[in-house]
Amino acid sequence: MLNPAPATIEPRAVETEFHGEVALVALNRPDQLNAINEEIRLLLPQVLEELEHDDAVRVILLHGGTARGFCAGADIKEIRAAETALQVRERNMRRAWIDGFDRVTKPVIAAVHGHCLGGGMEMALACDIRIASPDAVFALPETGLGLIPGAGGTQRLHRLVGQGRALDLLLTGDRIDAAEAHRIGLVTRLAADRQSLLDEALALAQRIAGRAPLATAYVKEAARAAGDLTLAAGQALERNLFALLSTTADKAEAARAFKEKRKPVFGGK
Ligand code: HXC
Repeated sequence: MLNPAPATIEPRAVETEFHGEVALVALNRPDQLNAINEEIRLLLPQVLEELEHDDAVRVILLHGGTARGFCAGADIKEIRAAETALQVRERNMRRAWIDGFDRVTKPVIAAVHGHCLGGGMEMALACDIRIASPDAVFALPETGLGLIPGAGGTQRLHRLVGQGRALDLLLTGDRIDAAEAHRIGLVTRLAADRQSLLDEALALAQRIAGRAPLATAYVKEAARAAGDLTLAAGQALERNLFALLSTTADKAEAARAFKEKRKPVFGGK
């Protein structure tokens, strides 16, 4: 077992900066193409949890920072002491770092450039919206390493692109470019170029941040549940969330702003 990472590490493998109500979270292992090591597995859920509880933050934007790509997957060079299969399973269940994304009620956007492989692609899949620059390359190459995706890839991909396309990517490990990823719905937006990716992603995040925060959280909850619920159960959830929102101050503010022909100012209440 690896030792837990110390509380403060300079520079950290995950860095956060703030642009208004948007928190930009950068993976920060540029020399290793942001390969996911224990530090990232430890820090990323912590950072997401902090941002979830930070009232000044409305949208989270995950990106590959200064590295040549978003993330080249799990750190293949990371050295672990020998473990039994049971120990690996228990460690992964205990850590379950990727679940940190599912605990966030705020929208999370992935801005993807360059390599987005294996665990890196699984991270992007765990986000709510994916925007890519034209140089982005996606693949789940795990079976070529004698493994399968271990951070949700086998489950999340088919919910996004359908089982046929998911199995094609999972079984072949083939790389697809940004245009193909866009065509199959793996990403929903393409940035004009690598240089403008972060600006375009930030503009998108700011637009979402300007909308009613509770409604944004509830629409995310309902839409994410849609993949797992029956239509009737999903509609019941939708009705309940709709009713909860109907008495909020932000709902009243939106109606007032419409009548007064001005932009609403939402307080998240
Ligand atoms: C550790 C990695 C890494 C990785 C890149 N690096 N990917 N280190 N784990 N996944 C390191 C390289 O060793 C190198 O470090 C530096 O980053 C730059 O990489 P290069 O290979 O020199 O760059 P390039 O020639 O441009 O090739 C880029 C690449 C290639 C095509 C992405 O690096 C590559 O194939 N990486 C492995 C991708 C992969 O299979 N990922 C795992 C997916 S599976 P140095 O120090 O030499 O300069 C997964 C789950 C299972 O995520 C994991 C099992 C452990």
